[in-house]
Amino acid sequence: MTANGGGPRTVSTSESSRSGSEFESDRSVSDEAPLGGPDASETILESRDLDVFYGDEQALQSISMEIPEQQVTALIGPSGCGKSTFLRSINRMNDLIDVARVEGDLRFHGKNVYDEDVDPVALRRKIGMVFQKPNPFPKSIFENVAYGLRVQGKDDGDVEGKVRTALERAALLDEVEDQLDSSGLDLSGGQQQRLCIARAIAPDPEVILMDEPASALDPVATSKIEDLVEELAEEYTVVIVTHNMQQAARISDKTAVFLTGGRLVEFDNTNKIFENPENERVEDYITGKFG
Ligand SMILES: Nc1ncnc2c1ncn2[C@@H]1O[C@H](COP(=O)(O)OP(=O)(O)OP(=O)(O)O)[C@@H](O)[C@H]1O
Ligand SMILES: [Mg+2]
Repeated sequence: MTANGGGPRTVSTSESSRSGSEFESDRSVSDEAPLGGPDASETILESRDLDVFYGDEQALQSISMEIPEQQVTALIGPSGCGKSTFLRSINRMNDLIDVARVEGDLRFHGKNVYDEDVDPVALRRKIGMVFQKPNPFPKSIFENVAYGLRVQGKDDGDVEGKVRTALERAALLDEVEDQLDSSGLDLSGGQQQRLCIARAIAPDPEVILMDEPASALDPVATSKIEDLVEELAEEYTVVIVTHNMQQAARISDKTAVFLTGGRLVEFDNTNKIFENPENERVEDYITGKFG
């Protein structure tokens, strides 16, 4: 079964819902058109029959799901089931892997990101990414965040103000305020990861993709990242891969369960997945019987 449950349907996922420049969202429309009750939320990302291949090997099988705006969607499942592959297909990071090939649609505000007229660099401006291992540049804390603005051509005007805002949103400013000129590499692992989050949010994206952002961190640093993810969802859409079931249960609104063979087996509200999943294999997985 390919579950499509829980993903709220929206009236307008067609191209006509877009306005202005490519991928500019029109939040006023979503504000005016709440659908289906108090927790209804617009779909911002939608995959339709998405297949991904590495050479002859198929890593994802016909994935269809709708990811709601300004919520946290967790992707869970055993190693090798395609979580990172799916995450990378959202902002076309798979383009950077020679043998990777994508079929089907991945729509952002209703527009297929694999259409020929889509510029992947512009796409990644809107859909930022944070990786498992913190990867700050060997530059100052300030320059790490300012870099995010400069590559995106957003360094006009108040760079310092924007850097400070990004550090504040990433819950790091208080700790580094007096050492903005020190190297980002001198920070602790948890601080480095928050610095990378600051770098990702500095250009003001709409979506932040996170691939196991806390798995290399100690429990205290992990809990800071978890708190931060929940806060970020007030402003951004967060899609997060995690191996940690408790983490998914704590911080996400929706959970997608991928199982071996690159299939999406169940996708629903996080409470439902953890308390009363439809699929027996999902139940076995989340209760630790395999994986
Ligand atoms: N660059 C690549 N080249 C070839 N095959 C790849 C590549 N990246 C991933 N794969 C294969 O695609 C499948 C899915 O891998 P993926 O990394 O997406 O899984 P995952 O769910 O993120 O696993 P993990 O939990 O271990 O990170 C695996 O069989 C993997 O070997
Ligand atoms: Mg992975």
